[in-house]
Amino acid sequence: MLSADELERYARHIVLREVGGPGQAALKEASVLVIGAGGLGAPALMYLAAAGVGTLGVVDDDVVSLSNLQRQIIHATPDIGRRKVDTAASRIYVYWGGAKGVAESARTILATPPGFRPIHFEEAVNQGKQIFMEKPVATDPAGIQRVLAAAAIAKQKKLNVVVGLQRRYQNSYRELIKRVHDGAIGEIVGAQAWWNNDGVWVHPRQTGWTEMEYQMRNWYYFVWLCGDHITEQHIHNLDVINWAMDGYPVKAQGMGGREVRKGKDYGQIFDHHYVEFHYGDGTVLNSQCRHQKGTMSKVDELLIGTKGMLLCDAARITDNKGRLIYQFDKSKENQPYQTEHDELFAAIAKGEYKFWDAERGAKSSMTSILGRMATYSGQAVEWDKAINSGINIMPSAYDFSAAPPVLPDAEGNYPVAVPGVTKFF
Ligand SMILES: NC(=O)c1ccc[n+]([C@@H]2O[C@H](COP(=O)([O-])OP(=O)(O)OC[C@H]3O[C@@H](n4cnc5c(N)ncnc54)[C@H](O)[C@@H]3O)[C@@H](O)[C@H]2O)c1
Repeated sequence: MLSADELERYARHIVLREVGGPGQAALKEASVLVIGAGGLGAPALMYLAAAGVGTLGVVDDDVVSLSNLQRQIIHATPDIGRRKVDTAASRIYVYWGGAKGVAESARTILATPPGFRPIHFEEAVNQGKQIFMEKPVATDPAGIQRVLAAAAIAKQKKLNVVVGLQRRYQNSYRELIKRVHDGAIGEIVGAQAWWNNDGVWVHPRQTGWTEMEYQMRNWYYFVWLCGDHITEQHIHNLDVINWAMDGYPVKAQGMGGREVRKGKDYGQIFDHHYVEFHYGDGTVLNSQCRHQKGTMSKVDELLIGTKGMLLCDAARITDNKGRLIYQFDKSKENQPYQTEHDELFAAIAKGEYKFWDAERGAKSSMTSILGRMATYSGQAVEWDKAINSGINIMPSAYDFSAAPPVLPDAEGNYPVAVPGVTKFF
C-alpha cells in the first residue's frame, strides 16, 4: 500500500484545488462507486469524499486495503481543504467481480489492476453507468475486444467514459498536439517514446495466502493482471504518439528481456522492451521502456516532422535545426488527474454526452500489448492478426482458492517469455 510520502503525492495529484471546481455540484448529488481502492482508487475516493459526495461506495477484494483506506482518508484530510471526512457515511462492499456493487451506484470509477477492467467495464456499461476507468483497459486481445464491444454499447447509450490517460487532459499536451495537427511540424515522419526508470513496488508472499491471492497482491509481476510494464506504464507515451498520429500501428517488432529483475518475487515480467512500431503511412515509432535501478531515467515523447520537432517534456516545438517555434508557458500547466474528473463530472452535471475515451483507450492498450507480443516472441506481429487472435490469458474462475493462469515451478519461479521460443501472448 501507499507510504505517507506516496499518499501525499497522489493526494496532491487528485485533490490539488480547493473544493469548488466545475464538477463539484454534480459530485455532491452523486452516488459514486470506486472499484479498487488502492494507490490510485484511494486518492480518487478522498477527492470525492472531500467534495461532499452523498453516498460513496467502495468495492475492494482486500480488507487490508479498506482499513488502509480509512487511515489514508484521515491522514489526507489536511490536504483536502481541512475538511472533516465522514467515512461512516460510506458504504463498503468487500468482494470481487464487481456486479453487485456496480448495480447500486450511479457512477463508477474502475481502478483495480488492469486484468479485471474488461469485466468491470462491461458490467458498468450494461447497467448504464457513467464511467471513469483507469488505464490500461485490458491485458490481452480478448479483453480488448470485450472493451471495444462494451464501448460501442456505451456510445449507443450515450454514457460518458473517461480513461485515465491523463496527458489527454493536460494543458501542455493539448496545446502541443493541437499545433501538430495544425501542421506546425509538417508531416510526421518519425517518433520516439520513453518510460525508463527504477521500477515499482514488490509485495512478497505472506503466510496464509493462496497462490491466487499472492498474485493479486503482487499483481505488477503477473502478465494476466498487469500486462507487463510496457502495458501498465509505457501506454501513456504510446498513447501520446497515437494521438499525434491520429491512428494506431499496423505492425511491431522488438526485443526485450529481464536482465536485473530476477527471483521469485518478480513473477514473469521483463525489465526492458525496445519496440519499433510501424504505422500505416510508413512512420516508425522507436519505443523503449526500462525498469532497472541505477540507470538513466526518462519519461518523454518526441515527434519528428518534415518541418520541425515536438519535444513533449520540454513542451516545445522547434524547427529541425533546434530553433524555437513554440514554447508552452509551464505556468499555465494544470493538474490533469484533477481535470479528468472535473470535466467528466461537469458533463454529467449538465446532462451532456462528451467523452467516449473507451475505444481509443482500448486501442492504445492494444498498442502496448502488440509491443509485448513482439518482444516476448521475437517476431514481427501484425495488428490485425494480434487483435483478432482471441488470445485470452485470464483465469477460468475468479476465487482466491481457484488456480491462477500461471503457476510457479517446484523452486517457486514463474515461466518467463523466451524470444524465439515463446509464441505470442
Ligand atoms: N493514470 C495514472 O497515472 C495511474 C497511476 C497509478 C495507477 N494507475 C492505474 O490504476 C490501477 C490501479 O493501480 P493502483 O496503483 O491503485 O494499484 P493498487 O494495487 O494500489 O490498488 C488496486 C486495488 O484494487 C483492489 N483489487 C484488486 N482486484 C480487485 C477486484 N477484482 N475487485 C475489487 N478490488 C480489487 C486491491 O485490493 C487494491 O486495493 C491500475 O490500472 C494502474 O495502471 C494509473
